[in-house]
Amino acid sequence: MDLTSKIVLVTGGGSGIGFELTRQLVALGNTVVICGRDEGRLADAARRTGAQAMVADVTSANDQDRMLASVQAQHGRLDLLVNNAGIFLAYDFRTDPDTLHKIEREIAINATAPLTLTRRALPLLEKSAQPAVLFIGSGIAFVASPGTPVYSGTKALIHHCAQTLRHQLQPHGITVFEAMPPVVDTDMAKALKSGNFKKMKPADLVREILGGLLRNQTEMLLGQSRQIKWMSRIAPAFLFRQFAKTEFH
Ligand SMILES: NC(=O)c1ccc[n+]([C@@H]2O[C@H](COP(=O)([O-])OP(=O)(O)OC[C@H]3O[C@@H](n4cnc5c(N)ncnc54)[C@H](OP(=O)(O)O)[C@@H]3O)[C@@H](O)[C@H]2O)c1
Repeated sequence: MDLTSKIVLVTGGGSGIGFELTRQLVALGNTVVICGRDEGRLADAARRTGAQAMVADVTSANDQDRMLASVQAQHGRLDLLVNNAGIFLAYDFRTDPDTLHKIEREIAINATAPLTLTRRALPLLEKSAQPAVLFIGSGIAFVASPGTPVYSGTKALIHHCAQTLRHQLQPHGITVFEAMPPVVDTDMAKALKSGNFKKMKPADLVREILGGLLRNQTEMLLGQSRQIKWMSRIAPAFLFRQFAKTEFH
């Protein structure tokens, strides 16, 4: 897809991968709207990137409607929806006092919200000449990660849904992309300690993602995610044991 003069909505654009996507997309001449819950961080990101900021929680139906109504009012269309916002929770399922809340929150933010926002955005995407949706998934979609009891499942769901939605929406002119990063050097991965993974720099990751969009590469396995997928096919038990050794501090 072409990446100039597009209207782009990036969820979670205030930090990490979303911030870097926003920075590079604005630099290419696109108009980017970012959302997140932390007003101060979002305003700072908007100032540093030139994006438009909107405080919104992606799990709220009202906030989703409000965001899309604002994009409609200001721009009349949406060319690219980037479902990037996410959380990553490491905890002991049996002993953590907050387990019930964590299960619901992680599924709501990582799995339900990208799908409901995509569904609500369809009328606005259909007003674009070249509409697209990008899901930020993860290489962890291919292996269950014991230290984060729900996170890898949410990314497996996104991997399946990216494929099903691509199939359903392509005949209507909407291209569905999925980028599956390896471990990336952002706040999310700060607590993650493992000798098996090298943290990728957000700027390098985003250059690869934008290259994939330009080439119309709908499924992007990035960095060590390629190895994870390959290992999940030939040595799944070995791969699981490697992930079981991951430490969080
Ligand atoms: N870092 C990695 O190693 C890695 C690897 C593979 C995939 N990913 C995926 O990449 C995406 C971005 O992660 P990151 O590493 O950039 O993490 P990050 O730096 O923690 O950024 C996550 C962003 O999501 C926003 N967010 C979280 N919950 C939200 C909600 N309910 N509503 C609106 N915004 C919300 C946060 O803003 P607020 O807190 O202000 O709302 C924050 O700006 C995630 O989907 C993650 O699963 C990350």
